[in-house]
Amino acid sequence: MEKKIIFITGANRGIGKETATGLAKQGHHLVLHGRNKALLQDVSEEIKTATGNNEVDIIMADLYSLADVKRMTDAFKSRYERLDVLINNAGAMLGRHREVTSEGNEKTMTINLFAPFLIMHAMKPVLLKSDSPRIINVSSAMHRYGGRPDFNDFQFEKNYSPMRAYSLSKLYLIWVTRHLDSQLKMRGVDNVTVNTLHPGAVATNFAQDADKGFMINQIYKFALRFMDKPVDGAKTSIYLATSPDVKNVSGAYFSKKGKIEKANDRYWSPENEKLIWDYCSGIIKKY
Ligand SMILES: NC(=O)c1ccc[n+]([C@@H]2O[C@H](COP(=O)([O-])OP(=O)(O)OC[C@H]3O[C@@H](n4cnc5c(N)ncnc54)[C@H](OP(=O)(O)O)[C@@H]3O)[C@@H](O)[C@H]2O)c1
Repeated sequence: MEKKIIFITGANRGIGKETATGLAKQGHHLVLHGRNKALLQDVSEEIKTATGNNEVDIIMADLYSLADVKRMTDAFKSRYERLDVLINNAGAMLGRHREVTSEGNEKTMTINLFAPFLIMHAMKPVLLKSDSPRIINVSSAMHRYGGRPDFNDFQFEKNYSPMRAYSLSKLYLIWVTRHLDSQLKMRGVDNVTVNTLHPGAVATNFAQDADKGFMINQIYKFALRFMDKPVDGAKTSIYLATSPDVKNVSGAYFSKKGKIEKANDRYWSPENEKLIWDYCSGIIKKY
């Protein structure tokens, strides 16, 4: 198999770590992102030992800071001549009180939408140096449950709940991924693929730290025992990153079994998709 340079965010644990391990086993050159250097170094050594692949590098950024994301992508571009696969895996559902970043953006939207959006744009020059670049954005089946989007309240200042912010940010991630796909197709670019996926309900640290209220906290803890293992949650990302079967598939939403599924289009329209795209473009403009 041809060796690919693969960059994966949120690779220090959970689905991201298993995705990185599976891809390192196949002999690819991995660049792991995380926000804690010591932890990430340990994870990279663990993956090297487990897979016998020494090409497992690390790069840090706090995805709650778009300035830091930009610094990270600049560092990546100065170190690597190309990027074959970008996996925007990091994501979070936060607590019951709305929080904003030091840059003034709501945190759920920042990590699940603005950061991946900025990474996709900032990495464009290195992605275009690859023969067949692939962008994989990890969304969620929860994109179905955010309720009606309010385009006068993009960042949930009037109506916030952890579930609404998480679900809508993952819905918008599907929309911007599709929008990028149509733009590429319109420009006649046919070697780049951009897709989204749902990894399954997976027993990770996901949503465990955030205080969602006593009852929901207990339900989450209880549900963990019935969920898939992280190694299973990584399967669709690994498939989309490397399988020749999806070399020419773009603009699709994949289920946890690596099958194309219909995303929830209840609130979708070309106009709404463009509205979200333009909003994200405005947010990342200064970076
Ligand atoms: N688990 C599920 O059932 C499930 C279902 C559907 C979709 N997903 C999606 O799958 C992806 C992976 O989730 P997971 O289940 O593996 O969850 P996880 O175990 O909580 O891992 C999330 C990853 O994102 C990173 N991250 C969070 N906030 C960050 C920040 N501000 N800056 C840098 N990194 C940050 C975490 O790093 P730290 O360790 O530093 O926090 C961690 O590496 C997410 O996009 C999630 O939305 C998960």
